[in-house]
Amino acid sequence: MNRQPLIALPKGRLFDQTLGLLARAGVTTAKRLNESRKLTFQDDEGQYEFVALKPVDIPVYVESGAVDAGIVGTDILREVESDVYEPLDLQIGKCRLVVAGPNGVDLDFARHVRVATKYPHTAERFFRSKNAHVHIVRLDGSVEIAPLLGLADAIIDLVETGRTLQENNMRIFEEVAPVTAKLIVNRTAMKLKSASIGGLISQLDAVIYANS
Ligand code: PRP
Repeated sequence: MNRQPLIALPKGRLFDQTLGLLARAGVTTAKRLNESRKLTFQDDEGQYEFVALKPVDIPVYVESGAVDAGIVGTDILREVESDVYEPLDLQIGKCRLVVAGPNGVDLDFARHVRVATKYPHTAERFFRSKNAHVHIVRLDGSVEIAPLLGLADAIIDLVETGRTLQENNMRIFEEVAPVTAKLIVNRTAMKLKSASIGGLISQLDAVIYANS
């Protein structure tokens, strides 16, 4: 536990925003070659080590202590429900988790509705809280296609600009939750590496405060 903190960054849509936020907080990664397929890299000062992971895996790695901290969306945190410390809302990756379906179709959630989603637990909880009985179809991506191909009647998925829904002739029925990215920290690492991880939290917090 003496090496520098190992921090998981989310591959995909949040990755560039995350590197941008870290750079504004003084943690630059210019030496990293963009085209590299290497999954671990350090910041230019060698203060932190980073690993790029699939977002859904980040809470698992952080809870176990295999990595010390990570950056991940609240959509994933809500779905995975891991026991990690959540010290900071990073105010990036803002979007919404919504129930959506094809234009021109009215869904009656009191009846048997099939809902396709990457978020089966969140979907179960959401519909249970409404006493709605739905059949959840778990998918891994491109969820919007499911109603168009007849696999499901509706979806629960992320909406950022709304363009994907619009271009696939779909509309939002209801918002499930707002989504943003958070810093999460392993509970033991928070104690054992408090100086370096606490320093990172302060640096990020200063950037977020300056932008608010
Ligand atoms: C996300 C999400 C939607 C889309 C929404 O998909 O699942 O499909 O972005 O963005 P928009 O409202 O700006 O159009 P992502 O690109 O992460 O890929 P995926 O569908 O394979 O998960």
